[in-house]
Amino acid sequence: MATNFIFQNTTKIYFGDNQLESLPQEVKKHGTNILITYGGGSIKKSGLLDKVKSLLENAGISVFEFGGIEPNPRHTSVNAGAKICKENKIDAVLAIGGGSVIDCTKAIAAATFYEGDAWDLVIHKAQITKALPIFTILTLSATGSEMDCGAVISNLDTNDKLGLVDPHLQPTASFLNPEITYTVSKFQTAAGSADIIAHVLDCYYFSRGHKLEMVDQVMEVVLKTVVKYAPVAIKDPTNYEARANLMWAASWALNDFLTVGIPQAPTCHCIEHELSAYYDITHGLGLAILMPCWLEYVLDDSTAADIKKFGVNVFGVDPKFSDMEGAKEALNRFRNFLYNELGLDSSLTALKIDKTNFEIMAKKACFGEVLHGYRDLTPKDVENIFEMCL
Ligand code: NZQ
Ligand code: ZN
Repeated sequence: MATNFIFQNTTKIYFGDNQLESLPQEVKKHGTNILITYGGGSIKKSGLLDKVKSLLENAGISVFEFGGIEPNPRHTSVNAGAKICKENKIDAVLAIGGGSVIDCTKAIAAATFYEGDAWDLVIHKAQITKALPIFTILTLSATGSEMDCGAVISNLDTNDKLGLVDPHLQPTASFLNPEITYTVSKFQTAAGSADIIAHVLDCYYFSRGHKLEMVDQVMEVVLKTVVKYAPVAIKDPTNYEARANLMWAASWALNDFLTVGIPQAPTCHCIEHELSAYYDITHGLGLAILMPCWLEYVLDDSTAADIKKFGVNVFGVDPKFSDMEGAKEALNRFRNFLYNELGLDSSLTALKIDKTNFEIMAKKACFGEVLHGYRDLTPKDVENIFEMCL
C-alpha cells in the first residue's frame, strides 16, 4: 500500500499556440511592473522577447529586463536580479527560457524579500518567507521547473550546485507552446529528453517506497513517450506532435504527481549535480552518462527483476529472459537509445573529465556519509560509479 500523501499543484498551464494572449491579464492580477528574465539570447534571436514585450507594454504593463542568465545558473545572477526587483518595485517576474532561467528567476522572486546574499536561502541559512508571483514561458522541454517548486542554483566560489524546494517557488502560471521549442538544438533536445527520463527513473521508478500500480504505469507511459518522440524531434525539429509530447511529458515527470508517498531519493541527480558543479556540464548529458552505469553498479539478484521490468515495459525486451539476462538486455537497449538514437556522449572521458575530483565529489554527493536511494551508496560506491563512467 502506498503511504499517505498530499497532492496540490497550483500552477495554471496554458498549453499550445495563441495562449500568450492571456499573459497580460494574468500578470495584471498582481500589478503592472514586471521583470522579464532570459538566458544567453536565444529568445532575442527568435523574436520571442520583442513579441512578449510589446504584448505586455500594449496592455499598460511596465517591462524591466534581466538577461544573460547562465546554464547552471549562478547565485550571483540571483543577487543581481533581486537587486533590480528591489530597486524598481517589481510586482511579478516572468522567466522566458529553459530550466536555468526559470530556476534563477524563482530564486530571484524569493531573494527580493531577503536582505542578504541569496546563497543563504539555498543553503537554508535563512528561510524563504515570501516570493514575487512567478510566470514562465517555457522554451526547452526538460526540467519540469515550469510546474514544480524547485530551483537548482550553483555557487562557483564553493563548487556547489544545490536544489532549493519551497512552496513559494511554485509558478503562478506557465505558458507551454511546443512551437517555441522548434529552435532547440539537437544536443539540447537530447539532453532534455535524458533529463525527463531521469526524473522518472531516478526519482520514482527505481525507489524503495511502495507505489500505486496506476502511477507505476503512468511512469512507464512517460518514459515510452520520450523514447518514441525524442528521436523524432531530433530528426525533425519542427514536428509539432513530437515537441508537444516531450513538453507535456517533461512537465508531468516532475510536478509531484508521481510522488504519491514515494520517498524521493534521486541518486543520479545528486551525483550529477557534482559533475555540473565542478565541470559546468549540461545536466541532462551528465545524467545520460551516469544512469546506465548506476543501474549496472546496483544490478544483482535483488534488483534484476526491477531492471528487467523497465526493459520489458519501456524498451520491449523479451519477457522470457531470466531476470538477470533481461536486466542486462534492458541496459543494452537503454545505452543504445541514449548514445546511438539520441547521439549523446557515453563517457566522462569524452567530456575531458578525469579522476582528479572524484573523491571529493563523491563525498559531497553523499552529503558526507550515505546517499540514500534505491540502493544506499557510500562515497566509495559513488567514486566507483564515476570511474565506470570514464
Ligand atoms: O540561454 P539561451 O540563449 O536561452 O540558450 C539556452 C541554453 O544555452 C538554450 N535554449 C533554451 N531554449 C531554447 C534554447 N535554444 C534555442 N531555442 C530555444 N527555444 O538551451 C541551453 C540550455 O538551457 P537550460 O535552461 O540550461 O536547460 P535546461 O532546461 O535543461 O535546464 C537545466 C538546469 O535546470 C536544473 C539543472 O540542474 C540545470 O541547472 N534542473 C532544475 C530542476 C527543477 N527546477 O526542478 C530539476 C532538474 O533535475 C534540474 O536539476
Ligand atoms: Zn533533472
